[in-house]
Amino acid sequence: MADNKNKGMFASILGLPNDDPKKTIIVAFLLCLVCSVLVSTSAVMFKPLQVANKQADIKKNILAVTGLLNESSDVNTLFEQFEVKIIDLETGEYSDIDPDTYDQKKAADDPAQSIQLSQQQDIANIARRAKFAKVYLLKDGNNLKQVVLPVHGYGLWSTLYGFVSIESDFNTIGGLQFYSHAETPGLGGEVDNPKWRKQWQGKKAFNDSGELKIEVIRGHVDFQVAGAEHQVDGLSGATLTSRGVSNLVNFWLGNDGFGPYLKKMSEAEK
Ligand SMILES: Cc1cc2nc3c(=O)[nH]c(=O)nc-3n(C[C@H](O)[C@H](O)[C@H](O)COP(=O)(O)O)c2cc1C
Repeated sequence: MADNKNKGMFASILGLPNDDPKKTIIVAFLLCLVCSVLVSTSAVMFKPLQVANKQADIKKNILAVTGLLNESSDVNTLFEQFEVKIIDLETGEYSDIDPDTYDQKKAADDPAQSIQLSQQQDIANIARRAKFAKVYLLKDGNNLKQVVLPVHGYGLWSTLYGFVSIESDFNTIGGLQFYSHAETPGLGGEVDNPKWRKQWQGKKAFNDSGELKIEVIRGHVDFQVAGAEHQVDGLSGATLTSRGVSNLVNFWLGNDGFGPYLKKMSEAEK
């Protein structure tokens, strides 16, 4: 009975002339309803896939920064070579927080899980820093080969998120790789240029006295000049992004970032 009534209602609406305002409004409303149901259903359905893709992308970038990314091998299998740990940035000690559930980006936004940086400390322009950070240890048996550190900081238009890998002397840089930024392609976006990224390999973060010296300079590195082992060429036409990268690397390798951890680890190695 009710079904017949609905059918009758639909038939009477469809039977209206196409230029009838009542028909236009009802058809537009139904179309919006169907589309919103489709959009929300697909957003919910694809959420796990999006999360998995994001995680796979992070793993790919960690493999790339350590030179292990290889198109013919499975990312998850390659990533098994890494041990993921959480460290207390202030003390440089390992913590027992579960790395699988720890979200450093969320923690940085939570006043209870982060610290507010003073203007003097905040050279990377990030305002707050999570108290705990993930580190990715690349090991060969019991021997540590490289440690990958997540870094982020402001360039010109955006916050750049990436990884720096450090060799087992806790001084030599293995690589730098960004997985997210919105700098201008061809200018600041050249941070992704493999030629420019390659320059980071083998650079020394600290001098013999343990001072942090790494920097992106303006122009080209003069290899005849003392200190060239701490310098990387600036990106032409992108001085502000270059300065941002220099600052973020200095922040994260410095005392307010992974400095205490790197110091502790290099002393333990001696
Ligand atoms: C459309 C547009 C996009 C730009 N994008 C960037 C950028 O991504 N990174 C950057 O450092 N400078 C960028 N610049 C240039 C800066 O505004 C600034 O001029 C430059 O950083 C100065 O560096 P230079 O001394 O190497 O030219 C852009 C400029 C324009 C007009």
